[in-house]
Amino acid sequence: MSKTRTSPTTSAGNRAAPLTRQRAHEIQAYGHVVSMPIALAENVRRENADNLNQLLADTITLRDLYKKHHWQVSGPTFYQLHLLFDKHFAEQTALVDEIAERIMMLGGVSVAMAPDVAELTLIPRPPKGREEVPVQISRLLHAHEIVIEEARAMARTAAKTGDDGTNDLLVSSVIRTNEMQVWFVAEHVVDMPLVHANGAGHHEQEEDE
Ligand SMILES: [Fe+2]
Repeated sequence: MSKTRTSPTTSAGNRAAPLTRQRAHEIQAYGHVVSMPIALAENVRRENADNLNQLLADTITLRDLYKKHHWQVSGPTFYQLHLLFDKHFAEQTALVDEIAERIMMLGGVSVAMAPDVAELTLIPRPPKGREEVPVQISRLLHAHEIVIEEARAMARTAAKTGDDGTNDLLVSSVIRTNEMQVWFVAEHVVDMPLVHANGAGHHEQEEDE
């Protein structure tokens, strides 16, 4: 209609003005899949996209748990854990992007915002305040185990339904990265002596005297 064309924001002299505060209906609802020509049936793409959204919510939560602990860590191992937690945060961030984009490739909609992630995640919510290192590490290891367990089940579903791309992402990236991170974190809660060895060191000192 000519009336809208001559409205102030779209008239010839004002076309450079940014059109802000626009709203419209969603173009795809969460949980729905659109067609995508990758030779996979819609029900297969939906099942794997749904699984990946659960994994995405848990991976975003685990990633954020790493940043929380990167900031809030304390004690004699402050520096090494401060650095390690941030390294793992960065690796989880890469996984978040890979998982989210795989969901879109399947024709789905990736969960994204914190309140939606909080509703979906299976990882227990930590307190807002600071906790001791062994508790921080226990929370991380528990979160990793939730992710690894569900990723393995989802990988089997992906393989069974012929979704090799999703299977490869889950096995090669998600499972392997999480297992590696578990090793690096878990070794910090092995109860090793810091100064006096359990037994041997003492005798050498006695012989010198
Ligand atoms: Fe930092």
